Amino acid sequence: MHAMKKTRNILITAGGTREYIDPVRFISNASSGKMGYALSRAAIKAGHSVTLISANVSLKAPKEAKVIDVVTSDEMFKAVKAEFEKCDCLIMAAAVSDYKPAVSSNTKIKKEQSVLSLHLKPTQDILKWAGRNKRANQILVGFALEDTHLLENAEKKLKRKKLDMVVANEPAAIGADCSTLHIKTKNENWLTFENITKAASAKLIIQDIIDIQGK
Ligand code: CTP
Repeated sequence: MHAMKKTRNILITAGGTREYIDPVRFISNASSGKMGYALSRAAIKAGHSVTLISANVSLKAPKEAKVIDVVTSDEMFKAVKAEFEKCDCLIMAAAVSDYKPAVSSNTKIKKEQSVLSLHLKPTQDILKWAGRNKRANQILVGFALEDTHLLENAEKKLKRKKLDMVVANEPAAIGADCSTLHIKTKNENWLTFENITKAASAKLIIQDIIDIQGK
């Protein structure tokens, strides 16, 4: 007889947040949401229950997932805070904007002849908050997109944000179906997967998370 497989509650963020300058202009990061959605499908396929916090993604979510749509980093933070306690694992696949306009105009900014300067202030680092507030057995997974010193910078992120796993890739991975991916679990060596599909890497990541947590 097979032992019953334990179902985990997995919280996944996907897409790119928008930070509004005025009602129609925003700053954002390039992100298709493909990775977060692939992770959601892989987790559901493996029998887990998924809450997907989705920011500005034009993909179809798996029908088994509980989807929470957000637009801004503030909304994403609020949704993560509301769901965090219930989850066994948080995967921050979203490209959260690091900065937002210091002031956002309620009306559309009119064009003028002079230079327009934009003052930005940092957004809340959601992963950092989760690292500070997690229970001992909660797993935190972060992503690192770097164009220089990829592994070195990603490893710093793993430590600084108190992650259990970091997934590192290069800007070429944005929107691509296949890319090179590096995965590091706390206290383990880097694993590199070349030219792997998002579906295959998502399956690996979900499997690794379950291995860390213990079956
Ligand atoms: N992230 C987050 N909240 C933010 C910004 C990023 O939770 N406000 C998460 C992303 O979802 C991703 C990881 O942190 O999982 C990426 O971190 P990044 O923004 O690259 O990290 P920084 O610490 O800002 O590092 P850098 O110095 O490279 O900007």
